[in-house]
Amino acid sequence: MNQDATPLFDMLLRHADREPIQFHIPAHKRGRGMDTRFRTFIGDNALSLDLVNIAPLDDLHHPTGAIKHAEELAAHAFGADVTLFSVQGTSTAIMTMVLATVGPDDVILVPRNVHKSVMTAIILAGARPVFLNPELDSAFGIAHGLSLETVSSALSQHPEAKALVVINPTYFGVSADLAGIVELAHNHGVAVLVDEAHGVHTAFHEALPLSAMQAGADMAATSVHKLGGSMTGSSILNIQGGIVDARHAQVVLSMLTTTSTSYLLLASLDVARRELALSGHEHLEKAITLANRARQEINCIPGLSCLGPEHLHSTATFAFDPTKLTVSVKSLGLTGYDVERMLREEHNIEVELSDLYNILCIVSWGDEWWQLEKLVHALSEVAKSCVVVSHHTDEKNVQLPPKTELLMAPRDAFYARTEVVPIAESVGRIIAEMIMVYPPGIPILMPGEKITAESIDYIETNLRAGLPVQGPDDAEIRFLKVVREGYCG
Ligand SMILES: Cc1ncc(COP(=O)(O)O)c(C=O)c1O
Repeated sequence: MNQDATPLFDMLLRHADREPIQFHIPAHKRGRGMDTRFRTFIGDNALSLDLVNIAPLDDLHHPTGAIKHAEELAAHAFGADVTLFSVQGTSTAIMTMVLATVGPDDVILVPRNVHKSVMTAIILAGARPVFLNPELDSAFGIAHGLSLETVSSALSQHPEAKALVVINPTYFGVSADLAGIVELAHNHGVAVLVDEAHGVHTAFHEALPLSAMQAGADMAATSVHKLGGSMTGSSILNIQGGIVDARHAQVVLSMLTTTSTSYLLLASLDVARRELALSGHEHLEKAITLANRARQEINCIPGLSCLGPEHLHSTATFAFDPTKLTVSVKSLGLTGYDVERMLREEHNIEVELSDLYNILCIVSWGDEWWQLEKLVHALSEVAKSCVVVSHHTDEKNVQLPPKTELLMAPRDAFYARTEVVPIAESVGRIIAEMIMVYPPGIPILMPGEKITAESIDYIETNLRAGLPVQGPDDAEIRFLKVVREGYCG
């Protein structure tokens, strides 16, 4: 296939060039009916491609023309049998994977550190999640992947499982032995659904962890928009093999998707795929080199330590994406959020996320060394302003996301009779809502789980640190919604 082609983008350019008189939405009509300041800033070129699914432009819900051709080129580039485009981010692609493979009461094996979209889909499907504990890293205070032992024992204990969700790689760039996991799951006839939100680039450089398709997974929801160069909100769903029915997945994705699909997002997927296929290796070589150099320099700053391949010791931490710079700041006696704020206020630097102990910076081929040099310099200024209070590997006082029990199916808890109780009085109750720090959007508690003193303590530690805790109806998190006492469905 000719990966130099961009059929979708070209079709839109040809259409815009013809300047048809538009008696269809959007009513801004190529920007002419729009706020002038916005129009001038965004530019007429972009607005001329802000179109809808009129006949000449194909239809994402039933592609037969340029969209289909663009999806086929993407499938070829990613090594999938079928690729479907999403204009609603990876969340919708993830929900599609779950809803296309499990239904009411079906068992799905899920790492406990999944993104909230997995749990949303499980609630919608009415499926029964069995949570698998990821490996926890008590030096960095983060969760990694699933070990082969964990997966193997879950598959033996739940032979009825229909699907297994795997995060590959994690937000922090760590991958488990995905090929090994796929082999185990397939021996049991279980479909492997990969959350590849942070792994679109892995298919294009051998120094990176295996991509989901390379490892033999059945489906992967892959954020082209996060690390692959397309516009925010554009993503893909890759499918291969005989376990998953690709046509059914397409129907489910269509059910979840707006009928007003953004052609700007679709065109950006088309051109990002071209760039990855033709120049991805070269671009990634640059990003990896920049990130590794920065990691080396940051590791020389007293009190700071970056996650790296030297921290991988098991099948749960099998491979590493060096373009993720996770910097532990806990030896400085600061939280990651403190450092995020200092970088913003004193150095005009914005990071991807922070948590209690770390900041995460994402390095791409869009960066240059002078930007990373500024980051290294800013971090050394931050470190200079602090006294190193502990050694990085000091695991004392590291609070990890606490484990709890699932006492009720998430859907049952979500739709149960509920009441609202002060957070301090909620211990022992079953929560009916999700609560998480976003980013990364991993639920601390999800509907159906028992609220423990440790989970409340963890939530309060995050709130005190200023981190963005969200999810509950009460945005200030003073109250939690719990299943009413005595309610039994
Ligand atoms: C691990 C993981 N999965 C899924 C998602 C959802 O991706 P999107 O924001 O494209 O919907 C995210 C977003 O941050 C994520 O971190």
